[in-house]
Amino acid sequence: MAGVTRERWSGRAFFLFAAMGSAIGLGNVWRFPYLTYEYGGGAFLIAWIIGLLVLGIPWMMMEFGMGRFFQKGAPGVFEGIGKKWEWLGWWPVFVAFLIVAYYSVVIAWSLNYAVDSATLAWGTGSAGAANAGNYFFGDVLNLSSGPTALGGLQWPVVGALAFVWVALFFIMYKGAGVIGKVAVWTVAIPWALLVVLLIRGLTLPGAVDGLNYYLAPDWGALANADLWFGAFSQIAFTLSLGMAGMFAYGSFVAKKADINNNAFITSFSNCATSFFAGFAVFSVVGFIMQALGVAVGDVSASGLGLAFVTYPTAISMMPALAAVTGVIFFICFFFLGIDSAFFLTYGGVIAPLRDKFGWGRAKVTAFICALGLVIGLLFTTQGGLYWLDIVDRATAFYGLLITGALACIAVGWFYGAEKLREHINSTSDFKIGAWFDWLIKVVVPAGLLFVVIYGGFKNDVPNAYGGYQIGALNGSHIIFIILAVTLGFSFWLQAAKTKTLKGGGEQ
Ligand code: PHE
Repeated sequence: MAGVTRERWSGRAFFLFAAMGSAIGLGNVWRFPYLTYEYGGGAFLIAWIIGLLVLGIPWMMMEFGMGRFFQKGAPGVFEGIGKKWEWLGWWPVFVAFLIVAYYSVVIAWSLNYAVDSATLAWGTGSAGAANAGNYFFGDVLNLSSGPTALGGLQWPVVGALAFVWVALFFIMYKGAGVIGKVAVWTVAIPWALLVVLLIRGLTLPGAVDGLNYYLAPDWGALANADLWFGAFSQIAFTLSLGMAGMFAYGSFVAKKADINNNAFITSFSNCATSFFAGFAVFSVVGFIMQALGVAVGDVSASGLGLAFVTYPTAISMMPALAAVTGVIFFICFFFLGIDSAFFLTYGGVIAPLRDKFGWGRAKVTAFICALGLVIGLLFTTQGGLYWLDIVDRATAFYGLLITGALACIAVGWFYGAEKLREHINSTSDFKIGAWFDWLIKVVVPAGLLFVVIYGGFKNDVPNAYGGYQIGALNGSHIIFIILAVTLGFSFWLQAAKTKTLKGGGEQ
């Protein structure tokens, strides 16, 4: 598409909000607070901040900076480094698409629950509290016995999912200009709602006990590899790196604009949101412990369980403002998720496809939204939750971490970390030193590979249901293998084609 000017953000603030909105998502509420509690409270925060500084921020500078340098999304960037690297840019595109296919379903559930909360559909008082789990797995999901028993579609979820994709289409089809403006709202609204939820949480009886669990430091845990695994994997996930999208978001940044400071601001505001959300979540955990007379270990404080079972349980038990709190919580969830979803879809998939094939924006956007909806139907069946787990495991693990490590190696050693640093320093508010080169070349890949290898041996599946852990593990390996083979094959095909075309040509 030579000659056509690159689309641009409408201003620095819009880029910042779009990037913050991508990073701030469901994970800030349902993953971070629980990990902090689980892995040693205050001690975990230290490892997490180290992870942020030595892995997260340099990696984000790399993605923004490379995107801006080549003025392309991930595949274009890696093609720019060398034709033989292009596949490394497509891998995260696949991953981003798979993630948004199920992430949009979770957003759809939030919409279902925003409506259900208005009437406390699962029940009030202790009867409602006892029924919350049943309501989610039984009434809403109608969960089958395993992934091979797909059963029928759950129509209310399908309806909400269609709404989500239509909304995504309208946000994205005009490109970065509109996306940036929408992002201001999709960041500001959930922040405001989190403040309301925190105030509600803190005014509940038992809240302080919950907060003590959240942050009580266990310094000994710093010597435990588990804590570092938790901290590093959360940093990788929470900043939305390794999903192709940040390259594209960086490519919409004007050639003369800052990179370094924007990467710092994006990362820190994301992490501040996580820390803050922890107070909102654990005040409610404390309340449930007191209201139901259970121990903290009995309260499911992470993942889907937190949002769709624990929180509804708490709502049922609330002495006042129950329905309003529920509606606010799920609307907050919707807004937390939606900007991560358009980031994945636009930056992760649509921009790379347009870079490569020069297709019209509205057309590709419509096609990808329709495809996302169709693939998402799998997760709205009765066996959908199992598939959600399998795909989540495959993508978050093999996708993000491995592509992230390989991308840093390719950029650090083959493109040249120093060249990247000079490029970003030349326009940034502040300059970074040569230490950056070694972070990109060695520390970030090593940190991410540590998570892959250590996590692989740990064999734990986050957010698994019942005895399904091993199934999810095997299923995710299979998806990963299919992905790798498809990708390998398409590049072999492309290489073969170019050879035939060239045959006897220049050489
Ligand atoms: N960073 C988002 C979160 O914390 C998750 C996400 C990952 C979103 C990857 C988009 C891409 O919820």
